[in-house]
Amino acid sequence: MTTISDHILKVRDVHYAYHTAGVATPVLHGIDLELRRGEFVIIMGPSGCGKTTLLNIIGLMMPARSGTVELDGAEVSSLDDAGRASVRRNKLGFVFQRFNLLPVLTVEQNVSLALRLRGDQLDGQAIRILERVGLADKRHSKPNALSVGEQQRAAIARAVVRRPALLLADEPTGSLDSRNAQSVLDLLRELNASDGVTTLMITHNEHLADRADRVLFMHDGRFA
Ligand SMILES: Nc1ncnc2c1ncn2[C@@H]1O[C@H](COP(=O)(O)OP(=O)(O)OP(=O)(O)O)[C@@H](O)[C@H]1O
Ligand SMILES: [Mg+2]
Repeated sequence: MTTISDHILKVRDVHYAYHTAGVATPVLHGIDLELRRGEFVIIMGPSGCGKTTLLNIIGLMMPARSGTVELDGAEVSSLDDAGRASVRRNKLGFVFQRFNLLPVLTVEQNVSLALRLRGDQLDGQAIRILERVGLADKRHSKPNALSVGEQQRAAIARAVVRRPALLLADEPTGSLDSRNAQSVLDLLRELNASDGVTTLMITHNEHLADRADRVLFMHDGRFA
Protein backbone atom coordinates (compact mmCIF):
# COMPACT_ATOMS: atom_id res chain seq x y z
CA MET A 1 0.00 0.00 0.00
CA THR A 2 1.23 3.49 -0.81
CA THR A 3 1.59 5.82 2.15
CA ILE A 4 2.37 9.53 2.18
CA SER A 5 5.99 8.90 3.09
CA ASP A 6 6.53 6.82 -0.06
CA HIS A 7 6.42 10.06 -2.00
CA ILE A 8 9.36 12.40 -1.94
CA LEU A 9 7.59 14.93 -4.17
CA LYS A 10 3.97 15.90 -4.73
CA VAL A 11 3.17 18.70 -7.13
CA ARG A 12 -0.48 19.73 -7.20
CA ASP A 13 -2.18 21.88 -9.82
CA VAL A 14 0.77 24.19 -10.43
CA HIS A 15 0.15 27.09 -12.80
CA TYR A 16 2.74 29.61 -13.88
CA ALA A 17 2.89 32.67 -16.12
CA TYR A 18 5.87 34.92 -16.86
CA HIS A 19 5.11 38.63 -16.72
CA THR A 20 7.17 40.77 -19.05
CA ALA A 21 6.42 44.47 -19.53
CA GLY A 22 2.91 43.98 -18.22
CA VAL A 23 2.19 41.08 -20.55
CA ALA A 24 1.45 37.68 -19.02
CA THR A 25 2.68 34.58 -20.84
CA PRO A 26 1.03 31.52 -19.31
CA VAL A 27 3.46 28.59 -19.37
CA LEU A 28 2.22 25.91 -16.95
CA HIS A 29 -1.46 24.98 -16.95
CA GLY A 30 -2.13 22.78 -13.96
CA ILE A 31 0.74 20.37 -13.40
CA ASP A 32 0.29 17.34 -11.15
CA LEU A 33 3.29 15.13 -10.47
CA GLU A 34 4.22 12.58 -7.84
CA LEU A 35 7.61 10.97 -7.38
CA ARG A 36 8.23 8.01 -5.13
CA ARG A 37 11.43 7.65 -3.18
CA GLY A 38 14.12 6.06 -5.29
CA GLU A 39 12.40 6.70 -8.63
CA PHE A 40 14.30 7.84 -11.72
CA VAL A 41 11.88 9.89 -13.82
CA ILE A 42 12.52 11.70 -17.08
CA ILE A 43 10.54 14.62 -18.51
CA MET A 44 10.54 15.10 -22.28
CA GLY A 45 8.75 17.59 -24.46
CA PRO A 46 9.26 20.18 -27.19
CA SER A 47 11.37 23.27 -26.66
CA GLY A 48 9.43 25.99 -24.85
CA CYS A 49 6.76 23.68 -23.40
CA GLY A 50 7.69 24.59 -19.81
CA LYS A 51 10.04 21.84 -18.60
CA THR A 52 12.69 24.15 -17.13
CA THR A 53 10.01 26.39 -15.64
CA LEU A 54 8.55 23.40 -13.80
CA LEU A 55 11.97 22.23 -12.60
CA ASN A 56 12.74 25.74 -11.34
CA ILE A 57 9.49 25.79 -9.38
CA ILE A 58 10.15 22.34 -7.88
CA GLY A 59 13.71 23.51 -7.14
CA LEU A 60 12.28 26.54 -5.29
CA MET A 61 14.15 28.94 -7.54
CA MET A 62 10.90 30.72 -8.25
CA PRO A 63 7.48 30.57 -6.63
CA ALA A 64 4.49 28.87 -8.22
CA ARG A 65 1.74 31.40 -8.86
CA SER A 66 -0.78 28.80 -7.72
CA GLY A 67 -0.74 25.19 -6.65
CA THR A 68 1.49 23.43 -4.13
CA VAL A 69 4.80 21.62 -3.95
CA GLU A 70 5.31 19.11 -1.17
CA LEU A 71 8.84 17.83 -0.65
CA ASP A 72 9.70 15.02 1.75
CA GLY A 73 6.34 15.37 3.49
CA ALA A 74 6.42 19.17 3.95
CA GLU A 75 4.68 21.87 1.94
CA VAL A 76 7.53 24.06 0.66
CA SER A 77 6.04 26.33 -1.99
CA SER A 78 4.78 28.85 0.55
CA LEU A 79 8.04 29.20 2.50
CA ASP A 80 9.81 32.57 2.73
CA ASP A 81 13.16 33.15 1.01
CA ALA A 82 15.22 31.85 3.94
CA GLY A 83 13.08 28.73 4.24
CA ARG A 84 13.39 28.04 0.54
CA ALA A 85 17.16 28.52 0.62
CA SER A 86 17.38 26.08 3.50
CA VAL A 87 15.33 23.45 1.65
CA ARG A 88 17.50 23.94 -1.45
CA ARG A 89 20.64 23.43 0.63
CA ASN A 90 19.40 20.49 2.66
CA LYS A 91 17.05 18.55 0.41
CA LEU A 92 17.85 19.32 -3.21
CA GLY A 93 20.70 18.76 -5.63
CA PHE A 94 20.96 20.46 -9.01
CA VAL A 95 22.69 19.54 -12.25
CA PHE A 96 22.46 21.77 -15.31
CA GLN A 97 23.42 21.63 -18.97
CA ARG A 98 26.23 24.08 -18.28
CA PHE A 99 28.16 22.70 -15.39
CA ASN A 100 28.44 25.93 -13.35
CA LEU A 101 31.65 24.82 -11.65
CA LEU A 102 33.65 27.66 -10.11
CA PRO A 103 36.70 28.04 -12.39
CA VAL A 104 39.13 29.29 -9.75
CA LEU A 105 38.58 26.28 -7.48
CA THR A 106 39.86 22.75 -7.98
CA VAL A 107 37.42 19.91 -8.56
CA GLU A 108 37.75 18.85 -4.94
CA GLN A 109 37.24 22.42 -3.68
CA ASN A 110 34.12 22.76 -5.84
CA VAL A 111 32.68 19.65 -4.21
CA SER A 112 33.80 20.57 -0.68
CA LEU A 113 32.26 24.01 -1.01
CA ALA A 114 28.81 22.44 -1.24
CA LEU A 115 29.44 20.80 2.14
CA ARG A 116 30.98 23.88 3.74
CA LEU A 117 28.00 26.00 2.72
CA ARG A 118 25.89 23.77 4.90
CA GLY A 119 28.42 23.77 7.73
CA ASP A 120 29.16 20.05 7.33
CA GLN A 121 32.41 18.47 8.43
CA LEU A 122 34.41 17.45 5.40
CA ASP A 123 35.55 14.04 6.73
CA GLY A 124 36.77 12.85 3.36
CA GLN A 125 33.25 13.00 1.88
CA ALA A 126 34.44 14.98 -1.14
CA ILE A 127 37.13 12.42 -1.93
CA ARG A 128 34.73 9.53 -1.55
CA ILE A 129 32.21 10.98 -3.96
CA LEU A 130 34.98 11.89 -6.43
CA GLU A 131 36.06 8.26 -6.32
CA ARG A 132 32.48 7.23 -7.01
CA VAL A 133 32.32 9.42 -10.13
CA GLY A 134 35.78 8.35 -11.30
CA LEU A 135 37.55 11.66 -10.73
CA ALA A 136 39.73 11.03 -7.69
CA ASP A 137 42.88 11.40 -9.77
CA LYS A 138 41.69 14.76 -11.14
CA ARG A 139 40.71 16.23 -7.81
CA HIS A 140 43.43 18.88 -7.84
CA SER A 141 42.65 19.99 -11.40
CA LYS A 142 40.74 23.14 -12.25
CA PRO A 143 37.49 22.56 -14.18
CA ASN A 144 38.85 24.01 -17.45
CA ALA A 145 41.54 21.29 -17.46
CA LEU A 146 38.83 18.62 -17.59
CA SER A 147 36.92 17.25 -20.56
CA VAL A 148 33.26 18.25 -20.74
CA GLY A 149 32.23 14.75 -19.66
CA GLU A 150 34.53 15.01 -16.64
CA GLN A 151 33.21 18.47 -15.81
CA GLN A 152 29.68 17.10 -15.72
CA ARG A 153 30.85 14.23 -13.49
CA ALA A 154 32.35 16.82 -11.13
CA ALA A 155 29.11 18.81 -11.17
CA ILE A 156 27.18 15.62 -10.36
CA ALA A 157 29.59 14.87 -7.50
CA ARG A 158 28.94 18.37 -6.15
CA ALA A 159 25.18 17.90 -6.47
CA VAL A 160 24.99 14.54 -4.67
CA VAL A 161 27.69 14.94 -2.01
CA ARG A 162 25.10 16.37 0.41
CA ARG A 163 22.86 13.36 -0.18
CA PRO A 164 19.89 15.29 -1.50
CA ALA A 165 16.39 13.88 -1.08
CA LEU A 166 15.80 14.82 -4.72
CA LEU A 167 18.22 15.44 -7.58
CA LEU A 168 16.95 17.80 -10.28
CA ALA A 169 18.79 17.61 -13.58
CA ASP A 170 17.96 19.97 -16.47
CA GLU A 171 19.43 18.54 -19.68
CA PRO A 172 22.56 17.30 -17.91
CA THR A 173 23.79 15.69 -21.12
CA GLY A 174 22.81 18.59 -23.38
CA SER A 175 26.42 19.74 -23.83
CA LEU A 176 27.87 16.25 -24.27
CA ASP A 177 28.50 13.97 -27.24
CA SER A 178 26.60 10.70 -27.29
CA ARG A 179 29.34 8.64 -25.63
CA ASN A 180 29.74 11.10 -22.74
CA ALA A 181 25.96 11.47 -22.52
CA GLN A 182 25.61 7.71 -22.06
CA SER A 183 28.33 7.61 -19.46
CA VAL A 184 26.80 10.50 -17.49
CA LEU A 185 23.46 8.73 -17.61
CA ASP A 186 25.16 5.51 -16.43
CA LEU A 187 26.55 7.48 -13.50
CA LEU A 188 23.18 9.03 -12.59
CA ARG A 189 21.54 5.63 -12.87
CA GLU A 190 24.21 4.04 -10.68
CA LEU A 191 23.85 6.72 -8.00
CA ASN A 192 20.12 6.13 -8.16
CA ALA A 193 20.44 2.35 -7.87
CA SER A 194 23.12 2.10 -5.21
CA ASP A 195 22.60 5.28 -3.17
CA GLY A 196 18.87 5.68 -3.77
CA VAL A 197 19.18 9.19 -5.19
CA THR A 198 15.66 10.04 -6.40
CA THR A 199 16.12 11.79 -9.73
CA LEU A 200 13.95 14.02 -11.91
CA MET A 201 15.69 14.73 -15.18
CA ILE A 202 14.82 16.66 -18.34
CA THR A 203 16.23 15.46 -21.64
CA HIS A 204 15.58 15.74 -25.36
CA ASN A 205 17.45 12.46 -25.93
CA GLU A 206 15.06 9.55 -26.42
CA HIS A 207 17.88 7.00 -26.13
CA LEU A 208 18.45 8.19 -22.57
CA ALA A 209 14.73 8.28 -21.82
CA ASP A 210 14.61 4.52 -22.40
CA ARG A 211 16.60 4.10 -19.20
CA ALA A 212 14.12 5.86 -16.90
CA ASP A 213 11.66 4.15 -14.56
CA ARG A 214 9.00 6.47 -16.02
CA VAL A 215 8.93 9.04 -18.81
CA LEU A 216 6.52 11.98 -18.65
CA PHE A 217 5.71 13.90 -21.82
CA MET A 218 4.96 17.59 -21.51
CA HIS A 219 3.20 19.59 -24.15
CA ASP A 220 2.18 23.25 -23.86
CA GLY A 221 2.53 23.28 -20.09
CA ARG A 222 0.62 20.08 -19.43
CA PHE A 223 1.56 16.45 -19.07
CA ALA A 224 0.10 14.33 -21.83
N1 LIG B 1 12.38 34.51 -17.77
C1 LIG B 1 11.41 34.39 -18.69
N2 LIG B 1 10.64 35.42 -19.01
C2 LIG B 1 9.65 35.31 -19.93
N3 LIG B 1 9.37 34.16 -20.57
C3 LIG B 1 10.13 33.09 -20.31
C4 LIG B 1 11.19 33.14 -19.35
N4 LIG B 1 11.76 31.91 -19.27
C5 LIG B 1 11.09 31.14 -20.15
N5 LIG B 1 10.11 31.83 -20.77
C6 LIG B 1 9.16 31.29 -21.74
O1 LIG B 1 8.41 30.27 -21.13
C7 LIG B 1 8.21 29.17 -22.01
C8 LIG B 1 8.71 27.90 -21.36
O2 LIG B 1 10.12 28.00 -21.19
P1 LIG B 1 10.98 26.83 -20.55
O3 LIG B 1 12.37 27.34 -20.43
O4 LIG B 1 10.32 26.34 -19.33
O5 LIG B 1 10.85 25.72 -21.70
P2 LIG B 1 11.59 24.32 -21.87
O6 LIG B 1 10.54 23.29 -22.04
O7 LIG B 1 12.58 24.12 -20.77
O8 LIG B 1 12.35 24.51 -23.26
P3 LIG B 1 13.80 23.95 -23.76
O9 LIG B 1 13.57 22.50 -24.12
O10 LIG B 1 14.11 24.79 -24.96
O11 LIG B 1 14.78 24.14 -22.65
C9 LIG B 1 8.91 29.55 -23.31
O12 LIG B 1 7.94 30.06 -24.19
C10 LIG B 1 9.88 30.63 -22.91
O13 LIG B 1 10.09 31.53 -23.96
MG1 LIG C 1 14.66 24.01 -20.69
